[in-house]
Amino acid sequence: MQTIIEYLGSITGEAFERAGYPMEVAVSVSDRPDLCQYQCNNAFQGAKAYHKSPLMIAEDVVKLLSEKAVFADVQAVKPGFINMVLTDEFLLGYAQKMAEDEHLGIPQAEKKEKIVIDYGGPNVAKPLHIGHLRSAVIGQALKLISREMGHEAVGDIHLGDWGLQIGLVIAELSERHPEWKVFSPDFKEGDEVPVLTTELLSEVYPTASGRSKTDEAFREKAHFATRDLQERRPGYIALWQEIMRVSVGDLKQNYEKLSVDFEYWYGESDADKDIPALMEILEKKGLSYESDGALVVDVAEESDKAPVPPVIVRKSDGSSIYATTDLATIIQRERDLAPDRIWYVVDNRQELHLTQVFRCARKAGLVPESTGLEFLGFGTMNGTDGKPYKTRDGGVMRLSDMIGTVTDAALERIVSQGNITENPEDYARRIGIAAIKFGDLINHRSKDYIFDLDKFMSSEGKTGVYILYTVSRINSVLAKAESRGSFAGITTGEERDLVLALVNTPEMWRLSLNERAPSYICENVYRISSVFSHFYHENRIGDEADEKARNTRLALSELTRRMIVKHLNALGIEPVDRM
Ligand code: ARG
Repeated sequence: MQTIIEYLGSITGEAFERAGYPMEVAVSVSDRPDLCQYQCNNAFQGAKAYHKSPLMIAEDVVKLLSEKAVFADVQAVKPGFINMVLTDEFLLGYAQKMAEDEHLGIPQAEKKEKIVIDYGGPNVAKPLHIGHLRSAVIGQALKLISREMGHEAVGDIHLGDWGLQIGLVIAELSERHPEWKVFSPDFKEGDEVPVLTTELLSEVYPTASGRSKTDEAFREKAHFATRDLQERRPGYIALWQEIMRVSVGDLKQNYEKLSVDFEYWYGESDADKDIPALMEILEKKGLSYESDGALVVDVAEESDKAPVPPVIVRKSDGSSIYATTDLATIIQRERDLAPDRIWYVVDNRQELHLTQVFRCARKAGLVPESTGLEFLGFGTMNGTDGKPYKTRDGGVMRLSDMIGTVTDAALERIVSQGNITENPEDYARRIGIAAIKFGDLINHRSKDYIFDLDKFMSSEGKTGVYILYTVSRINSVLAKAESRGSFAGITTGEERDLVLALVNTPEMWRLSLNERAPSYICENVYRISSVFSHFYHENRIGDEADEKARNTRLALSELTRRMIVKHLNALGIEPVDRM
């Protein structure tokens, strides 16, 4: 289905051409809604190309556009703007077509692309902390938005399960429990493996990491443990599998609570088998060379404003590192999935790392030229003090604790209001998740934002709670109505504003996908909700006496509900039927 902007763009382009000014023409939603609904500013470019005043060009074009029945008003305005107002019939007719469309008018991809989205990226053995929240929430939303728009998107969690953090845990445990069989060099299959717990792991890692900063011997030990693990020393592999069992189980639970899911639970360790092939390609193409005992590839480009150092693919002790696994993973993805694009939803601070990886992958030809490798960076989540979010006692907040805090706050509110008696826990979870996710996604992903739970839980303003509240309000309006209504005719300004918010929605989705930024979907669903609230306060709906007006308002309420729910679905937020 063509969007209104596309339709207006095409008829306006035709008019420019017929008037003797053929050129690229674009129409946009007006930034002065008090003056008009849509506008075209191309007469200014036309003036340069055709040596005429912008106003004259605009007037010539408007003369032709006025013949079109879709305009209630179309004017050339000094110094050369073209202002457009559509008829109510056209607007309402378009809304009706959206209601009948299987995608509710959301633009569908002309060419379906296969997109692998690398998000989540938690590190095994380290507790899932708040820093990983953004990647999960943004990545999940981007996956769902792409799917709603006709692409084939799959998520790969890319677990950090093969690096130094595991070596640190192994080294620490080997000092605490030297008697464990897994540490003996002659460990063999069938020998006893200790049973670990999440509690233990969440204490061991920070301790080990802290020690490695001051204790050089220990740090060395951890490095050797990492290398031995990567060389598949049997006892270490057995212990690693136990660490994975505990960690992955815990991760799955947390992501499930957040309504975040992954098609692939691959980790850095899965890239291991493709490392020899990677090394061979780099060597054959003459890209890798030795530098201080390490193997590196140059990736600097002449146009670099800041230096881009060579990427290290093998350290001097023989172990592979972060870049190695990222490169080998590209080989695996290309072989198994042959994606059109790979999106990396990763902290802004890793931009240099991924720039190096992408450049090396291109030089080595790991993916076809046409395959997009895109770094979709996100900003830091700060506390209300403006510094990276911490717990009250200054520690790093664990995701599970954070979800618990938010859900408890929601439950408390539900209990105090007393109107949800059936399954309040599920309501509380949905409300809590809506608060967390919307609070994050409303900010453009690239920006830092402040995590402010009180604000996120507010039922006013740009919050998930407000959106859920709007859906539940529409539900109660429609539950009382005896018919679904019909698009009979616009009679009030609030109806028209609501229709405009609905029919302008498709462009916002396009913008969101183009920029890979869910924030536009959030802004749009907030806009629809707030315009609906105004409509609801100023117009009777189910109890309106005039049949035509009642029908239109019911049909608009129904379309609004479906539209809001579609936005929520794409954001990974589950609505509730009442609040
Ligand atoms: N595990 C990494 C970290 O915690 C994030 C992984 C991002 N994805 C990637 N392909 N490098 O920093």
